[in-house]
Amino acid sequence: MKASIQLKIMGCRLNHAEGAFIQGALERQGYSFTIDPATTPDYVIIHTCTITAQAQREAQRLVRGYLRAGVRGVIVSGCAASTDKEHNFEANGAAAVVANSLGEVRYGTDADANAIAERVLFALTHGAVEGEYMPSFASTRASVKIQDGCNFRCAYCIVPDARGEPRSRGVDDILAECDMLLSKGFRELVLTGVNTICWRADGLNLCGLIRKVASDSRVGRIRLGSIEPRTTERELIELMADPAAKLCQTLHYPLQSGSNNILKLMRRHYTREEYCEVVEAALETLPQIGLGSDIITGFPGETEQDFLDTVEIVDRFPFSNLHVFPYSERPGTPAATLPHSVPMDARRNRAKQLIAIGERKRKEYAQSFIGKAVEVLVERIDDEGVGRGWTSEYLETRISGCTAAEVGSLISVLPHEVNLDVLHATINQK
Ligand code: 5AD
Ligand code: SF4
Repeated sequence: MKASIQLKIMGCRLNHAEGAFIQGALERQGYSFTIDPATTPDYVIIHTCTITAQAQREAQRLVRGYLRAGVRGVIVSGCAASTDKEHNFEANGAAAVVANSLGEVRYGTDADANAIAERVLFALTHGAVEGEYMPSFASTRASVKIQDGCNFRCAYCIVPDARGEPRSRGVDDILAECDMLLSKGFRELVLTGVNTICWRADGLNLCGLIRKVASDSRVGRIRLGSIEPRTTERELIELMADPAAKLCQTLHYPLQSGSNNILKLMRRHYTREEYCEVVEAALETLPQIGLGSDIITGFPGETEQDFLDTVEIVDRFPFSNLHVFPYSERPGTPAATLPHSVPMDARRNRAKQLIAIGERKRKEYAQSFIGKAVEVLVERIDDEGVGRGWTSEYLETRISGCTAAEVGSLISVLPHEVNLDVLHATINQK
């Protein structure tokens, strides 16, 4: 029998999508995956993130923890693996390291771990169609990786080192993968990448690709991740308003800072005024749009007033999905050498304040749907026999009176209560 594996995924949505590729590719070769915390698997794969020093440290800590718990070996892949020039993972006991964007594996002496690492590399460098395996997704929602890499070079960000220059997959390749996923019953396709608006191929931009994907009648809806300011966001908002594009009404729009001074130091190419103008336009076109953002607190030189400028914007709009990060120095990035470093305490304290505002805003946003009909893609029936799914705006929803026949369909529901940010709804009879 082939070894059992546990997969630990850290970081962003793209990493989670890649985790599904890794699992699918290894299952195809006969490996079994366990999620049961009570059993010790033979091997653990950690698909890591390196966005902050803390994420990088956590990955090192996990390697030691799994080895102490008695697994035979740990294979490390992902962004923290590709930026680990000093081979710290091996020093902590990793059996093999897969440096994703560099397309390279650092093998050890355990032949089984090496074979797993080789397959991980295969999953990360081949689309599922070419790779004769099915990604392992848990619901009716599947991710399609349309691009990798980023060259925006924001002053704080190490991702270009971890993921390399932008590379776009071709249209035919993407459509073939969508076709395979749709034929297996997936209904929501999440177009994923490091910086998806960089996607360009065969004379099309991201909006053109969305229209092509949407033209298949089996597609229920299409979801996007983060969209960088000053790119194609206005065209995307128009697209969201067109039912034929089947595009979910969410805009995850990273602000990073609400202070023009800090935005300049961050090498972001917009002002707070430009950012707000787009959000206002989005709200005008789609008043219920799900708004998300990423914010960094305590970037070098951030004064209390700069921070208050950020708070003011966060407070002004109905954000429902805020990701707040205390600034973390990443070696080799331009920001790492900037003067006027903000003490870690202040970075954390500011983050805490914004997280609290974000939680309040999310509740208010969810409450605003009570009594309003919304569309949900039913993903599954849970253990209690209740339907589960997400709205187009990305609110989790429980639907009573829903049956297995509705799984995979878009249905209209009426929310009557919000509990822990989850909408409780009944099927809308109208
Ligand atoms: N420190 C803190 N947060 C960071 N991010 C990127 N780099 C850093 C860093 N050095 C955040 C940004 C980005 C999100 C994915 O991670 O907000 O949008
Ligand atoms: Fe983390 Fe960025 Fe890599 Fe995603 S792409 S895992 S957020 S470093």
